[in-house]
Amino acid sequence: MNDFRDYNKVVMVATAELKENLTTATLYKVPSNYDDIKRNIAELGLLNPLLVTKDLQIISGNLRFWVALELGLETLPVVFLDVEEQRMDMVSVSTNQFREKSNLEILREIEFYEQYYSVGKGRRTDLCPQAAQVKEEKDQALGQIGRYRVNTLKSIKKKCVELYGEGNTKVDELLSSVESGKSSLNKVNEQLERESNKRMNKKNVPSFYEFHTENVHIYNKSCIDLSELEDNSVQTVVTSPPYFDMRDYGIGKNQLGHQDTAQAFIDELVPYFDEVNRVLKHNGSLFVNINDKIEDGQYQMVPEMFLIEMVKRGWRYVDKYLWLKPNPQYTPNRGSVRNFEPIFHFVKSEDYYFDREWLKQVGDMDNGISIGTVDAMEPKLVSGMDFRDNILKNIGGNTYELRKKCKEHGFQMEHSATFPLSLPSIFILSTSKPGDTVLDIFSGTATTGEVALLTNRRYVGYELNPQFVMASEVRLSEHLNFKEAA
Ligand SMILES: C[S@@+](CC[C@H](N)C(=O)[O-])C[C@H]1O[C@@H](n2cnc3c(N)ncnc32)[C@H](O)[C@@H]1O
Repeated sequence: MNDFRDYNKVVMVATAELKENLTTATLYKVPSNYDDIKRNIAELGLLNPLLVTKDLQIISGNLRFWVALELGLETLPVVFLDVEEQRMDMVSVSTNQFREKSNLEILREIEFYEQYYSVGKGRRTDLCPQAAQVKEEKDQALGQIGRYRVNTLKSIKKKCVELYGEGNTKVDELLSSVESGKSSLNKVNEQLERESNKRMNKKNVPSFYEFHTENVHIYNKSCIDLSELEDNSVQTVVTSPPYFDMRDYGIGKNQLGHQDTAQAFIDELVPYFDEVNRVLKHNGSLFVNINDKIEDGQYQMVPEMFLIEMVKRGWRYVDKYLWLKPNPQYTPNRGSVRNFEPIFHFVKSEDYYFDREWLKQVGDMDNGISIGTVDAMEPKLVSGMDFRDNILKNIGGNTYELRKKCKEHGFQMEHSATFPLSLPSIFILSTSKPGDTVLDIFSGTATTGEVALLTNRRYVGYELNPQFVMASEVRLSEHLNFKEAA
């Protein structure tokens, strides 16, 4: 045993007396250039001393120690470092600061830091200076890794444990795919997010779900049959069918939009509105938002074909609104990026109900809607409408908020093609009165329903996907209270 401890000099100690550092041995894997290091030490001897405690516990130098054992080197150069026992591990990890690390090693480091600094956890840092210092040190240690990387790696680990159980090897597998360039941390995290949402929904979303209250009925069935509704019972319909060949709403064969040609899509879609015609009042209105699709560089004229077929079947076509979009999706042709979608206004008779008076009150936020015409003496409704929040203000949630709330209710809402609230607002306010019934046959998350309730109308929706009916319940429940309080 060596008795002499000189803290500034390099001294030789017996290799057999050194103790491996178990913390860094578990954190860091053997590097791929291990054999080169070994060859180098065999040729030149060990030039770089190990850092050790006075008890010959290695602080830094595990790798050199292993090589020495393999090469049978009897003594090794070391430098002693005086370090408190409880700080030993932290100092060891710090000496690896500039080492090139894999994501798995960084994850282990993060876990080490979290555990090491958990001492002050839950204690108010303003009341406990020691806890404040711990927090600062921890922030510093994690800050070296980078906030984004720390959060992403922690999130990956957490989801792997939730999905595959404690001690699974999935984290190693996924992080290796990042190391080999096959994936990225972001992609891995998103993939796990999808898997965990899928699992959560499988558990918590039943195959059939409806929502009924005094003023709201959302049926979980295809809207090809509206037999729950009496003839001439609905004042206004605002709806947006699934677009041709665009999205899968996860509801199998019954969903629209997956036909081979635009014509086949229109042939299937238009008959849905025969039932709408039956239930719509004589002076009622139907608004349909329908978009086009480009194939082989050409628009398929889906809205135009729809319009012609609807008129052929007896609908009166009275207006076209343009939903102007501030962030249009990429358009796959050589021309411009199209930033609008049409919304057609159909009626059954010449004397349909249309009220411009409501426009004069729209500055009143208690009314739920503001379209920026507060000061106008004679506000006019225009048909090309920019539904950006700052132009046509709407209150209440968007999908981000709704998603968050659904998650609190134990399921992930996967709908991404919802209306802005202001869109149905304009149509409902101009063509119906409080107490009337508003219908959306492709109800989705019931954006139309939310506006109906906010403006004291009744709402009926039809939606094939039970998850979206659940999301509608989350969305509308808040406004049921609002209505009662009003
Ligand atoms: C464009 S989305 C409507 C989104 C809705 N406007 C909103 O703001 O949430 C079309 C919806 O129609 C539903 N759907 C598709 N085929 C249906 C059918 N035959 N009957 C009822 N709903 C259907 C889809 O599940 C989807 O939610």
